[in-house]
Amino acid sequence: MKMFPGNLQKISGNMILPEITLLELESVDSTNAYAKQHFESFVDGTLVTAEMQTDGRGRLGRNWFSPPGVNIYASLVMKQIANPFYATITGSLAALKLLQEQLPRESFFIKWPNDIYVERKKICGILSECHTSRSGIDGVITGIGININLETEELAGIGQPAASLKSLSGKFFDVRKLTFLLADALAEYYAVYLHSPEKLFAEWKENNFVIGKLVGLVDSNGNRKSVKVLDISETGELITEENGCISRFNCGDVTLMKESFPEGVLPRNGFFSIK
Ligand code: BTN
Repeated sequence: MKMFPGNLQKISGNMILPEITLLELESVDSTNAYAKQHFESFVDGTLVTAEMQTDGRGRLGRNWFSPPGVNIYASLVMKQIANPFYATITGSLAALKLLQEQLPRESFFIKWPNDIYVERKKICGILSECHTSRSGIDGVITGIGININLETEELAGIGQPAASLKSLSGKFFDVRKLTFLLADALAEYYAVYLHSPEKLFAEWKENNFVIGKLVGLVDSNGNRKSVKVLDISETGELITEENGCISRFNCGDVTLMKESFPEGVLPRNGFFSIK
């Protein structure tokens, strides 16, 4: 049995990829909170994982459903990134790669700012939090929650349409094996960031389905409106148009509108997402 606070294991590392050090916990309030608390003593690239979270955190003060043994709950400490947006896209692309490799026939996509969806359902959420010292931001912790073996009935209780690898395929997945694969993918995308943030951004934007679409936007003040997304800036702002008026949003939530996908005109692999 693993003992809290866990065992350290180096699972990748060479001249090209940043080294990822895995810290496996059985149970924790939140892997993000734990990584934040121990940030100073952790080396760059520490990945804190837990079999369950008792107080999993989501965006905008929400909770993240974190029952034991069935999902990935992981937080990566990145000390060479000071920009939470770039940390988020590092995490999103790594999670997207993992999901696409497991179920290549499914159409996973990133929805600004940080969710991964399949069909109309959310399968992965990402929460980046900055660590600050007296000199300012000295790193970012990116938390990744991926629904792996959650059953359809459990997903129904989440409060929003949600999917897991199991609900999509009927197959059971080895969570620990997938965690190792996620660690490899994180090392890869962290390296892409370090060598070429522009390349990382371009790949993220390519996998982001909101551009050019009509979306419902709830801004940080809770105001709802329908806007057309013109672009996403390199700083992660959503650039929108509404009655000829151009605006920029750096946080909020979007929902894809049915009208964005006229019948017969479906995005990649023939699916669409509505809410
Ligand atoms: C969201 O979509 O609202 C973000 C969810 C992020 C959940 C993950 S699970 C691992 C890490 N620890 C947390 O407490 N939250 C993140």
